[in-house]
Amino acid sequence: MAALREKASSLPAITLSAKQACDLEMIAIGAFSPLTGFVGKADFEGICKDMRLADGTVWPIPITLAVDDEVKATLSEGSSAALFHSDGTLLAIIDVQEIYAHDKALEIPNVFRTEDDAHPGVAAVQEEGDWLVGGPIHVLTVVPENEPGEQFTEHRLPPAETRADFESRGWNTIAAFQTRNPIHRAHEYLCKCATEICDGLLIHPLVGETKPGDIPADVRMDCYTTIIEHYFVDERTLLTVMPAAMRYAGPREAVLHALIRKNYGVSHFIVGRDHAGVGDYYGTYDAQNIFDEFEPGDIGIIPLKFEHAAYSKKAQGMVSAKTFPKLEGDQIFLSGTKVREMLAKGERPPGEFSRPEVADVLIKWATSEVPA
Ligand code: ADX
Repeated sequence: MAALREKASSLPAITLSAKQACDLEMIAIGAFSPLTGFVGKADFEGICKDMRLADGTVWPIPITLAVDDEVKATLSEGSSAALFHSDGTLLAIIDVQEIYAHDKALEIPNVFRTEDDAHPGVAAVQEEGDWLVGGPIHVLTVVPENEPGEQFTEHRLPPAETRADFESRGWNTIAAFQTRNPIHRAHEYLCKCATEICDGLLIHPLVGETKPGDIPADVRMDCYTTIIEHYFVDERTLLTVMPAAMRYAGPREAVLHALIRKNYGVSHFIVGRDHAGVGDYYGTYDAQNIFDEFEPGDIGIIPLKFEHAAYSKKAQGMVSAKTFPKLEGDQIFLSGTKVREMLAKGERPPGEFSRPEVADVLIKWATSEVPA
C-alpha cells in the first residue's frame, strides 16, 4: 500500500466522475468479475456489438474510463496513472494499457437502443470525454475519506463475503431483488413470491449514482430497514447494498444486474416490468425477453420474470394478468408524480400502494427542507 501511494505521487492524475468511482468500486470488490479493470478496445467493441467480451463471455455494458483531451495529453500507453475521487482521495492506480477513441456512435445506440439525449444514460455518455483508457487497476481504497456518513458501512458486503454469509445461513437458493426505489406493495409482492420458492431473499438496492429526481439512497435505506422490520421474515432476508451507478439502459442493464448478482452468489434474479427502464424507451417486457437471446449457461443465474403487478380491489390482494383475469379498472394504480404530490403534502398513498410505515419515512423526507 505504502509503495503504491509513493508511486502514485509521481503519476499523472485522473479525477473520477461519480459513475467512474462507482465502477471502480464494483471492479475492486469483484462485483464486475471477470473484469479486473476498465475495458480495452476489443472488449469495448465486442460488448457494444455483440454483448460479449473479446473472449466470448457475456457482458452487456462497457465499463469505461473516459477522459478528455487535456487528461489524455498527460497519459501514455505502457505507463500508469493515479485515480482520485472528486474529494481528493487517492483510490487506485491504473496500468494504462490502451488509450483509444471513445466511439460514442457505437456505444450509445447499441447500449441504450436510442440516441435521444433526453435519456439520462445517453446524456451521461454524451458528456463523457472523447478518449477511453483501458487497463487493470490496483486499488488502495474504495470508500473515500471525506464521504459523509452515508456509506451504509454495515450493509456494504462484497461478493465473496456475501457468498460466505449465504453459506453460513445454509441458503442454497437465493433470489436477489434489484431496486432503485422504495419498496412499495408491487415490489414487496415480487420479493415474497421469490422467497416462497427460494431459501432466502437478498434485497440488493442500487446505491451508486442515480439521476436527479430518483429518491436518494439514504432515504431508501430507511424505507428498506423499516419495511423489513414490519413485513419481512428476518431469518429469510438479507439487506445489503449494490454500489453500481444506474445507466437506465433497460434490457442490457437487466443482464448486467443479473451478472453482478451471480457474482454475489445468488441463484435467482427478479426481473419485473420495465426493469432498469426510464420514460418510454423500452417495452414493458424487453428486459425479460433479452434473457432469451442467451443460452441458459451463458448468464449463469435464473431470471424470475414477473408480470406487471398491482393491488386488485376485487381479489383483495396483489395480482397480475397471469393470476387474475378481471383487471379492467380494478387495480390501484398511482403514477410516480401523483405519489410525489401526496408525500409532499404529508399524505400517505393508499395502503394498497405503499405500506404506511414506508409512506411515513417518505413523508418525513418529502416535507423536510429541500428534497433532492
Ligand atoms: S429498477 O430500475 O431497479 O428496475 P424499480 O426499483 O422500480 O426500478 O424496480 C425494481 C424491480 O421491480 C425491477 O425488476 C422492476 O422490473 C420490478 N417492478 C417494479 N414495479 C413493478 C410492478 N408494478 N410489477 C412488476 N414488477 C415491477
